[in-house]
Amino acid sequence: MPDLSINFAGIKSPNPFWLASAPPTNSGYQVMKAFEAGWGGAVWKTLGVPVINVSSRYGSVNYRNTRMAGFNNIELITDRPLSDNLKEIEEVKKYFPDHAIIASLMVETKAEWEQIIRDVENAGADGIELNFGCPHGMCERGMGSAVGQEPEVLQTIVGWVMETAKIPVITKLTPNISHIVDPGLAAVRGGSNAISLINTIKSIVGIDLDTYAPYPVVDGKGTNGGYCGPAVKPIALEMVKELAQHPEIQSTPISGIGGIETWRDAVEFMLLGASSVQVCTAVMHYGFGIVREMESGLIDFMNQKGYETIYDFVGKALPNVTEWKHLNLKHKVVAKIDATKCIGCELCYIACDDGAHQAIRLSEVGGSRIPEIIDENCVGCNLCSLVCPVEECITMEQRDDGTEQVTWHEKTLANTIPTTFDDDRAGGKGHFVPKVTDALKK
Ligand SMILES: Cc1cc2nc3c(=O)[nH]c(=O)nc-3n(C[C@H](O)[C@H](O)[C@H](O)COP(=O)(O)O)c2cc1C
Ligand code: SF4
Ligand code: SF4
Repeated sequence: MPDLSINFAGIKSPNPFWLASAPPTNSGYQVMKAFEAGWGGAVWKTLGVPVINVSSRYGSVNYRNTRMAGFNNIELITDRPLSDNLKEIEEVKKYFPDHAIIASLMVETKAEWEQIIRDVENAGADGIELNFGCPHGMCERGMGSAVGQEPEVLQTIVGWVMETAKIPVITKLTPNISHIVDPGLAAVRGGSNAISLINTIKSIVGIDLDTYAPYPVVDGKGTNGGYCGPAVKPIALEMVKELAQHPEIQSTPISGIGGIETWRDAVEFMLLGASSVQVCTAVMHYGFGIVREMESGLIDFMNQKGYETIYDFVGKALPNVTEWKHLNLKHKVVAKIDATKCIGCELCYIACDDGAHQAIRLSEVGGSRIPEIIDENCVGCNLCSLVCPVEECITMEQRDDGTEQVTWHEKTLANTIPTTFDDDRAGGKGHFVPKVTDALKK
């Protein structure tokens, strides 16, 4: 049986699955219930001077049959008095001394930071997370993402916190910034023991077509909210990778957050360098019980690969994530259709003809139209295999023999890249395109 336990910058947890700071960690009752279900840690709903929330607060992107493919909220930090939260942290710690409770904090002045840090330490919190991410409400008051978007301010506040804190400090970053490395570096330079990301993405999920108000609607009006859930995972993965590959940041533990719902999502974050993961939307959607499948899936994965601890595979994908200029231009794949699996929906033909490279023809066979790849036209873009609704019906076949390797970078050094508008060395020079007037015959 593999060992799932982690020591995250000094915060010990029986497994890497933590609840993110959000409604599921709003009370001791919920955190106890989550630990009972199998969660290894919980980042408490952000503490500070309590707020007054609006109603309604959540919006969502329901994509086709999937509800909450993306989720949006305009909720603020905790609206419960600090003393109630501290009492409950203390109580939960008594029942679960080996589980991780991290107190998420957001206050304004240096004196407030010093006071609240002492308070949560006295309550028995194992770590602190600095919420520099909230993109609505709190930022208008100079907190949350207003700090996360200003690396210098962020570094100063992390510095204040480090002067006082006796327990490990995690700095939580906002994705609402063009270059995530800037606040990442500021956190490390400020002395933060770890980093977590991402918080929610500034967003409007939709507009009511009768009232013209954005969702979620509050008495006929709305405001931008924070986007999360499955839709944001690719953005979060990329940002985790950016930090995990940076020479000055890579030795700082990273907690990955954003769209995690299954063990597979969690493993992807770990392969890109996260050594704990946090979940919010999936728990709000399906409840604490999802951790059971996450845990058993992770154990199966580790058994299959022969990993004994989490640290055996954290960051394993990083060497394969390179810059575009280092990709092999000689690698060549071509689509292949398995006619025995094809249901004749023609989606591949439409996608390739209208949206790609006119490399699929439809041939009449026994009264039905069968798609066929025109090998010499296929650029190997993947589109048809992505739109095909039948699993493994369109696969991509390698056509180069793997012996040749030339990258854009090498070509640049060798002075063989296209440099003029009509350069003969362009990749698409001479590649088939139909005559303009062929469009009218279809
Ligand atoms: C309703 C709601 C409230 C949230 N409140 C907080 C908060 O108080 N503090 C915080 O750091 N993040 C907060 N978050 C952000 C989450 O902790 C998390 O970073 C984000 O939702 C991405 O993870 P997910 O895709 O698993 O939801 C909140 C998210 C939601 C949906
Ligand atoms: S891989 Fe791209 S170019 Fe090739 S057949 Fe499919 S859609 Fe067309
Ligand atoms: S998309 Fe797939 S199933 Fe549909 S016609 Fe093309 S190959 Fe057949």
